[in-house]
Amino acid sequence: MDKRPIGIFDSGVGGLTVVKQVMKVMPHENIVYFGDTARLPYGSKSKEAVTKFSKQNVRFLLTKEVKAIIVACNTASSNSLEELHSTFQVPIFGVVDAGVAEALRTTKNKKIGVIGTAGTVRSAAYENMIRKEDNNMKVFSKACPLFVPLAEEGWTDNEVARLAAERYLAELLEEGIDSLVLGCTHYPLLKRCIGTIVGEDVKLVDPAKATAKQVKLFLQEKGILNLHESKGARNFYLSDYTDMFYSISQKALKQGYTPEIIDIEQY
Ligand code: DGL
Repeated sequence: MDKRPIGIFDSGVGGLTVVKQVMKVMPHENIVYFGDTARLPYGSKSKEAVTKFSKQNVRFLLTKEVKAIIVACNTASSNSLEELHSTFQVPIFGVVDAGVAEALRTTKNKKIGVIGTAGTVRSAAYENMIRKEDNNMKVFSKACPLFVPLAEEGWTDNEVARLAAERYLAELLEEGIDSLVLGCTHYPLLKRCIGTIVGEDVKLVDPAKATAKQVKLFLQEKGILNLHESKGARNFYLSDYTDMFYSISQKALKQGYTPEIIDIEQY
């Protein structure tokens, strides 16, 4: 039994979709969340910049004595995870491999769509990992950068979001995909909108659930799961003020949280 918190980071509010699953699967765990809102978006930045930011985020979370870290950001998971593993001793989990496993379980016709940031799509992390598991899989990727500011703005299911989704997803639908990986942690916030556009025949794959289960299994195996009976404490930190955080957290987590602002450049 280990009461130390789990650290979770993203570029902004997207990682809350991972926090939600962690809270569901491990309700007793204490959580420290960091959203790098001062430097968002990560999706349009270079691998070097995202890796530098990710290292600083990990260093900040380590000051909170976390027992494990979840990189709740596909862009950082696909571009920087290896470097984080070789730099830090703390167990660090990305979201991509869990997403890949879930996509392989979901597809029936072996045509998988992947949507993510430009950085994630450019890295081809999903494509490579899916094809490594099963060479017969066809993967169609599409960067949907506007979904991130829409999610940060709380515009998750209005006509602007729907128009963007229609434009972005048309070519994937033409390919006949039967499953669509939400390969950016911001995108599950637009799940309803994306689901309406792709229709019932295309299953949406959110890597967050599988990631939370993977982390739980790891903590269990190591004997460091928090078995305390009370609900875990949740603390939220951002690198810059964002007035939407309270309402987005309320929507995503069924409880609004007021974040503390920190200077991430110090780490
Ligand atoms: N939510 C992040 C991801 O999963 C990054 C979005 C961004 O900052 O561009 O990729």
